[in-house]
Amino acid sequence: MVTEAEGGQIAIQGVSRTFGDGGAEVVALSRVELDVRPGEFVSLIGPSGCGKSTLLRLVAGLDRPTAGELRLDGEPIEGPHYSRGLVFQDPTLFPWKTIWSNVATGLEARGVLKERRGDVDKIIELVGLRDFERAYPHQLSGGMAQRAALARALVNHPKVLLLDEPLGALDAFTRMNLQDELLRIWQERGTTMIFVTHDIDEAVYLSDRVVIMTPRPARIKEIVTVDLPRPRVRNGAGFFEYRSRILESLQLVPETAQPEYIV
Ligand SMILES: Nc1ncnc2c1ncn2[C@@H]1O[C@H](COP(=O)(O)OP(=O)(O)OP(=O)(O)O)[C@@H](O)[C@H]1O
Ligand SMILES: [Mg+2]
Repeated sequence: MVTEAEGGQIAIQGVSRTFGDGGAEVVALSRVELDVRPGEFVSLIGPSGCGKSTLLRLVAGLDRPTAGELRLDGEPIEGPHYSRGLVFQDPTLFPWKTIWSNVATGLEARGVLKERRGDVDKIIELVGLRDFERAYPHQLSGGMAQRAALARALVNHPKVLLLDEPLGALDAFTRMNLQDELLRIWQERGTTMIFVTHDIDEAVYLSDRVVIMTPRPARIKEIVTVDLPRPRVRNGAGFFEYRSRILESLQLVPETAQPEYIV
């Protein structure tokens, strides 16, 4: 569900990021151009160390580009803001706070918790943690902790959710389950999603578009629009076609190889 009225358009224009001063310089990103539509689900995929997290940190406003510009709904991104939520692979919850208090952190920091307590309850319900709001992080499974981290970002009603391999540490079953949860939340809230993953199936299952990046310095190699109806079928023929196209683009299979499932 695209809710353009609420915004969430990201423009990444000629963005480069170089690390190091003088000595050994690392060019992490080189002239990256990408427009993400309001409410779109975009995945970034590419070799380790190519600059995906760097790009996400720039959109989050946690880092500044060496060259180029990043904008949210036309406004330059100049620092972190609750309208751009970030979820990492490691849920990084505060161990001394209950799940409810962890989720409430952002509202508390903004001084709006008193009038928005109901939002915390609603979001905890949305991610399926209602029975665990008084639990502490060490009492949760990995999947539940990641739900809590998602809730902590969502409670701020971000226009954009930036997800850096958020499901990477989970077992396959929990992971698929949370992919479905994420899609449900996305469809309900219309939040723009930028999702970093190493998992090609995950990218095809979730995304409107998959952005394939080159090894460092990262540039955009190809953007694949996943034109499959939702809900998607993980073992459908169309799904496998996209999967092999992305594998080829990442040069993980020879381009001439015929997939075995085509007879
Ligand atoms: N703060 C920093 N200082 C110096 N170099 C950095 C910094 N952050 C990232 N880099 C370098 O930039 C490059 C890209 O790193 P980044 O973390 O963005 O890669 P990535 O695509 O997210 O990799 P992975 O898939 O392994 O998470 C790497 O060579 C990394 O060493
Ligand atoms: Mg990374």
